[in-house]
Amino acid sequence: MAILIKNIKNLLQVEKEIRLLVKGSEMRELRTIKDSWLFIDKGLIEDFGEMAGLDEPSYYKEYHDLQIIDAGARMVMPAFVDSHTHLVYPASREIEYIDKIKGLSYEDIAKRGGGILNTARKMQEIPEDVLFEESLGRLDEIAALGTGAVEIKSGYGLTLESELKMLRVIKKLKQVSPLTIKANFLGAHSIPMEYRGRQGDYVDLIINEMIPHVAEGNLADFIDVFCDKGFFTVKDTERILEAGAKYGMRGKIHANELDYSGGVQAGVKYNALSVDHLEYVGDEEIEALLKSDTMPTVLPGAAFFLGMIYAPARKMIDAGLPLALASDFNPGSSPSGNMQLILSMASILYKLLPEEAINATTINTAYAMGISDKLGSIAKGKIANIIITKEIPTYEYLPYYYGANKVDTMILNGKVFIPQY
Ligand code: NIG
Ligand code: FE
Repeated sequence: MAILIKNIKNLLQVEKEIRLLVKGSEMRELRTIKDSWLFIDKGLIEDFGEMAGLDEPSYYKEYHDLQIIDAGARMVMPAFVDSHTHLVYPASREIEYIDKIKGLSYEDIAKRGGGILNTARKMQEIPEDVLFEESLGRLDEIAALGTGAVEIKSGYGLTLESELKMLRVIKKLKQVSPLTIKANFLGAHSIPMEYRGRQGDYVDLIINEMIPHVAEGNLADFIDVFCDKGFFTVKDTERILEAGAKYGMRGKIHANELDYSGGVQAGVKYNALSVDHLEYVGDEEIEALLKSDTMPTVLPGAAFFLGMIYAPARKMIDAGLPLALASDFNPGSSPSGNMQLILSMASILYKLLPEEAINATTINTAYAMGISDKLGSIAKGKIANIIITKEIPTYEYLPYYYGANKVDTMILNGKVFIPQY
């Protein structure tokens, strides 16, 4: 099925030459074509240009099943790429959230066996098919809000069986969903109660048992560690990243959310694809990142929801770094996978310009998933994961008009997406 979208008010994030990421002052640029068209065939972006140059009859002649979409006053942009989520989870945690409102911190809750461990207990009990169905529903929800590709982590299992259960669900989601999905093995998300005081033994279990099984089942593209105060140390992190690398799993890690943990430097040392959270980032971390191929990724939803300090995103871009922004969709610290909200938070809380925010949620998050050659911009040959917006006056309106859904139609893999769940 081929699709011709015509009369596009503004086609956003177009590229002649595919770039794998944008950094520093380049992030202020957003290439656009006003009054334009876009042609999609066999799931890919085939061509685009100005309306004045469109030879419409030739498309009618050549493609008998051609679907025409008249965009009218609507804009077209690449779908969001959400490079950091935990959207496979067994239950929400709104009761804990009330404890947070009453004054308990994320760390207090974790210490008393709540938080990630609370979710891990429920993960043991939930049947695999129920976990799958609920996760599929969440994929539908985020796709309707503009997301076309998503990374999903394990990490609520914390036993071999339960981690494998989560990863099998992610594998099945990859098979049935029109979204592009990457799996990240996060066995080192929290230290199970029975390993408290002998954390090294749990790290041994991850390295000696979990990683080989995950690799054998081809269940993960990446490997993750929560490297932070009260969770995993730099030494633990390095051991796990090294073990993962032996099986071709590149690191994408949680770092510096709760303190200057050394996680950023550990990630860079092991050539992680991304280091994520980054509330605690100073000159040393910026220096390390400038010399690396690692994408710094900020998660505004978590900082907002937990009332934490905000990562120095402005300073990082001004220092010449690239920056990605993802949702961190999870039941504890960011119960939302709405990337439109992330776009608004980028502007409101982190002082990013709309162009920077759009680059940070499309091309740079695609880099942070290792797929920026295929997604994250409007370029010939890329996968046709596209947003057609509602009628909006300007693209600056996208972060400005916060909280509302500005997506009219989603095209995923070259087909109009209709939510099923
Ligand atoms: O990215 N920081 C670590 N992990 C998640 C939180 C997971 C949870 O609380 O369930 C995060 O914020
Ligand atoms: Fe996370």
